Amino acid sequence: MSKTQYYTATSLDGFLATEDDSLDWLFPLASLHESSYPAFIAEVGALAMGSATYEWMLRNAEAVLKETGVAWPYTQPAWVFSSRQLPLIEGADVRFVSGAVDSIWAQMKQMAAGKNLWIVGGGDLAGQFYDAGLLDELIVQIGSATLGGGKPLFPRRVLGPALQLQSVQQMGSGMAELRYTVCKARPSGN
Ligand SMILES: NC(=O)c1ccc[n+]([C@@H]2O[C@H](COP(=O)([O-])OP(=O)(O)OC[C@H]3O[C@@H](n4cnc5c(N)ncnc54)[C@H](OP(=O)(O)O)[C@@H]3O)[C@@H](O)[C@H]2O)c1
Repeated sequence: MSKTQYYTATSLDGFLATEDDSLDWLFPLASLHESSYPAFIAEVGALAMGSATYEWMLRNAEAVLKETGVAWPYTQPAWVFSSRQLPLIEGADVRFVSGAVDSIWAQMKQMAAGKNLWIVGGGDLAGQFYDAGLLDELIVQIGSATLGGGKPLFPRRVLGPALQLQSVQQMGSGMAELRYTVCKARPSGN
């Protein structure tokens, strides 16, 4: 069954990126290829991200090209949330959208043809899917580093038992991956 998953890496103190959107802290901690990423992305049929995440891809298109052979590494259709007009990365299958996530989620689901939907980030966008009752799983790789501030992992107040821990996996000495199921029948206010 298709799931909507927020899959991301975070610092130990709960930040996706520094205040100025740098991910330089993350790369020394683990290799993508030795992580759960290859198995995860193989099951993804559509993905969504906010504009700051997309703009990171824009700024780093050359480095991504060097690492993966293409400037846009996703073969799945992608939705980028923004209220602004953004340039298209060459070769990217991207739709620019804005507003409520539920109608976009329905479009993503249709295009994903039974595969999973990946909410790439940032944290508030994942929170918008959570608020709409659409998020099924949080899969978080916690890096052995603290940033002291930056872009938050998930700026929501979520009280147990809304999140049920499914697994814990060590990834070398730099990361630990936690997988949570989002309990849909949560008490109001959580
Ligand atoms: N550690 C990791 O694995 C990881 C994973 C993902 C992202 N990241 C990084 O973390 C940072 C995330 O940045 P961020 O927290 O600012 O989040 P973001 O979701 O990438 O960008 C937020 C922006 O997206 C637009 N947006 C969000 N929801 C929208 C909606 N419903 N309708 C229209 N526009 C909407 C808004 O900007 P505008 O309307 O002004 O365009 C908003 O300010 C980035 O640097 C990214 O590269 C890291």
